Amino acid sequence: MANVVVVGAQWGDEGKGKIVDWLSERADVIARFQGGHNAGHTLVIDGKVYKLHALPSGVVRGGKLSVIGNGVVLDPWHLIKEIETIRAQGVEITPENLMIAENTPLILPLHGELDRAREEAASAGTKIGTTGRGIGPCYEDKVGRRAIRVADLADKATLEARVDRALQHHNPLRKGLGIEEVDRAGLIELLAEIAKEILPYAAPVWKVLNEKRKAGKRILFEGAQGSLLDIDFGTYPYVTSSNVIAGQAATGVGIGPGSIDYVLGIVKAYTTRVGEGPFPTELLDDDGERLGTRGHEFGTTTGRKRRCGWFDAALVRQTCAISGINGISLTKLDVLDGFETLKICVAYDLDGQRLDYLPTAADEQARCTPIYEEMPGWQESTEGARSWADLPANAIKYVKRVEELIECPVALLSTSPERDDTILVTDPFAD
Ligand code: IMP
Repeated sequence: MANVVVVGAQWGDEGKGKIVDWLSERADVIARFQGGHNAGHTLVIDGKVYKLHALPSGVVRGGKLSVIGNGVVLDPWHLIKEIETIRAQGVEITPENLMIAENTPLILPLHGELDRAREEAASAGTKIGTTGRGIGPCYEDKVGRRAIRVADLADKATLEARVDRALQHHNPLRKGLGIEEVDRAGLIELLAEIAKEILPYAAPVWKVLNEKRKAGKRILFEGAQGSLLDIDFGTYPYVTSSNVIAGQAATGVGIGPGSIDYVLGIVKAYTTRVGEGPFPTELLDDDGERLGTRGHEFGTTTGRKRRCGWFDAALVRQTCAISGINGISLTKLDVLDGFETLKICVAYDLDGQRLDYLPTAADEQARCTPIYEEMPGWQESTEGARSWADLPANAIKYVKRVEELIECPVALLSTSPERDDTILVTDPFAD
């Protein structure tokens, strides 16, 4: 298979960074197609830890082209800082190995300010629990046709006209929220300064990728967040502001949907969520605490404690269908080591009826209670296992049951943050 899309199949933080890094060794191009620096991907390579937010995971591997597609929203000041940090760790980043689509919308300081002001003003129950990075407001400007895009940085007159258009919308909004008006001249100056650093990376990404595809190069599409945070199919409104499902890979870089050969879903062996919103299998007891502690469940971007719960097969079955997932990578199985009994949610009870998916209506979601199946746990350690033979029988049974319930096979099994602690069943890039 030439081109593989990697998507999170839960609420994000499934361990995509490691798997993308693992697959990127086989790829020629690694492309981000949605989201922004709300994402946090941790890579551990030879004991060295790299924390990426806006940069595609491919940058840390030599000889690969990394691409930021138009489906992303880009904070240029953040990106330049991130490039400097990663460079300081010995990684080479140049316009030869990093390209940014010219039609990528820019996150401005006013987007972050609006994001945070709205969250602060929201009453309990209406807060989204965003990362505060301006992601939502920037996507709003994109569809509102008032975004400033990378290409606009190249021409002063265009840039000024775009700023005016954006401020026509933002200044009255800020007034209503009690924030002072934007300093127009200051913003134009800031943009003109950062333009010098960003423009060298600007490229017609759609064209470059189509040429790569024709030349038989392998493209890895790196998703951020998770399918349950998708703007259409997630637990709306407690979602992020982009489509995160596999279909977005094509529109997010400008390539045909027929170019996608394999969709790999990343699935954690239990469930976590950061921020507000429904979470049917959430555990507020010692088991939940234990999952969080053993799994080091703190956000890479915000440091917030993640909510933890049992594996929800009904939800993952749903996201596998929506993204057309061909195989999953099951991560963090070792966090379940030592539990006497494990529970898996197989369906929901809604007013006495069994439902095999999570309904869309908020009131129905709130009334859904999980129907659990129990399985015996295992006491042995699975951490660092590199073959099925290294796994206890009950761990294998758990994995097999997950496959049956989500109606999708396991392609990879990850048993620690180290890239080589991976059991390969099906290589997504294999022909
Ligand atoms: P936003 O993307 O900052 O607008 O946040 C919207 C929701 O998505 C919040 O619940 C965030 O916690 C969540 N979110 C955004 N990015 C990530 C991520 O990379 N991992 C997990 N949750 C995320």
